[in-house]
Amino acid sequence: MNYHYLEGTVINPDAPEDSLESKVPYVDNGTERFDPRRYYCKDFMQQEWEHLWTRVWQIAGVESDIPEAGDYMVYRILRENILVVRQDDGTVRAFYNVCPHRGNRLVHNDRGSVAAFTCSFHSWRFGICGKLQSITDEETFRKEVVCHRPDMKEVRCETRAGIVFINLDPEAPPLEERIGLPEGYLENYHLDRMHVVRHVVSEWGANWKTGVDAFYETYHLHAVHPETQTVMGDLNTQYDLYPFGASRMIVPLCEKSSRVEDQDSVDAGLQFMMQDAGMDPEQYTGDARGVRKAVQASKRRRAEDIGLDYSDLVDGQLTDSWATGVFPNVQIGLHPEGAFLMRFRPHPTDPERFFYDTMTLFRPADDPNYKAPDWMGIPEGTDLTGEIRPETEYIPLGEPPNLGLVLDQDSELLPVLQNGIRSRGFDGPLWSEQEQRLRHFHTELDRYISGER
Ligand code: FES
Ligand SMILES: [Fe+2]
Repeated sequence: MNYHYLEGTVINPDAPEDSLESKVPYVDNGTERFDPRRYYCKDFMQQEWEHLWTRVWQIAGVESDIPEAGDYMVYRILRENILVVRQDDGTVRAFYNVCPHRGNRLVHNDRGSVAAFTCSFHSWRFGICGKLQSITDEETFRKEVVCHRPDMKEVRCETRAGIVFINLDPEAPPLEERIGLPEGYLENYHLDRMHVVRHVVSEWGANWKTGVDAFYETYHLHAVHPETQTVMGDLNTQYDLYPFGASRMIVPLCEKSSRVEDQDSVDAGLQFMMQDAGMDPEQYTGDARGVRKAVQASKRRRAEDIGLDYSDLVDGQLTDSWATGVFPNVQIGLHPEGAFLMRFRPHPTDPERFFYDTMTLFRPADDPNYKAPDWMGIPEGTDLTGEIRPETEYIPLGEPPNLGLVLDQDSELLPVLQNGIRSRGFDGPLWSEQEQRLRHFHTELDRYISGER
């Protein structure tokens, strides 16, 4: 294979330089080896809390989960609980989920809808705007205790492309300045027209960064997920690094891995992808190399019939996964039909556990006969109209995440990897340029830890 790290691998050499598809210039993050203690030390976990989690923009959820005034959802990060609430004027605001009286949690579930928040301990009441409405038996308080009218404590909140972000730092720069992704990048996928059709939170026995790392490259596919080689060009992945730790990889789908010897025959995996795109594989006369283009053309043709608007997307986006890293702990697998929003949330106390929190978002089409593509892994019988928001499924530590073979493979490997990382014999990762997103992520993390950000 002919490879030079400054050039990397390019999906579409004809992409105009100012397009979102074109390869961005190489970012040189050096070759330093990082201390592996970051993956298991409680000290490092504490530093992350002080310098990262309390200062960085984080994805709290999607707007479509709280469509109406009074709808709320809870985002949990370590020991904190953030309550995100839709307001009467349609905006979204966020508050600590805590009652100023004695510190009870104001809501105890994941999401719901209220006219006001009533605390379950002594029934103090707050408006959905966080304003104190009433104190039970107020005359029994000495005036000085409550005369400042304790409201719910507000947290910074901004929305972008249908996604809700929060920030615990009142001094943080606006999201716009820190998201790092180019203008229109997320917007073009119209996540605001998608809704959650599946939400699984499974607990894994590894550090949250071990999780991020594992999802930030396609280098491991041949070894851990060999069956993907029939439909994924793992070695042709394009890696791009953006400011502030953001990054993406474009993983070409509907093509065989260049590691596979037979590049001609159209076998089951590719036939499957053609069917999903509305093609009849029997009618296809080309070889495997032509399938990706043929699928793109078919999706483009079919789009109008079924009422799916692909006009903001380039051909490559119709087949490929634009797996996009939003610093620090999210990757969104973007597709025209839907998206996989994966959050790697640290465990509140144990640096060697994290929550793999993944929402499957689906974009319905006008045509009622249009079904979600099989590769999205949406269980049979799921409501796709967006009327029913499914309950979050919680999967305990040690159990398979119930998200299909590929995720089972990852969840089996990660605790083993975590264990090795802890060994005295391991001196820190040696990253290839296929793993440049990992170095980019850890480099940005260290800017927070050191106080440079
Ligand atoms: S703790 Fe909320 S009313 Fe007492
Ligand atoms: Fe994997």
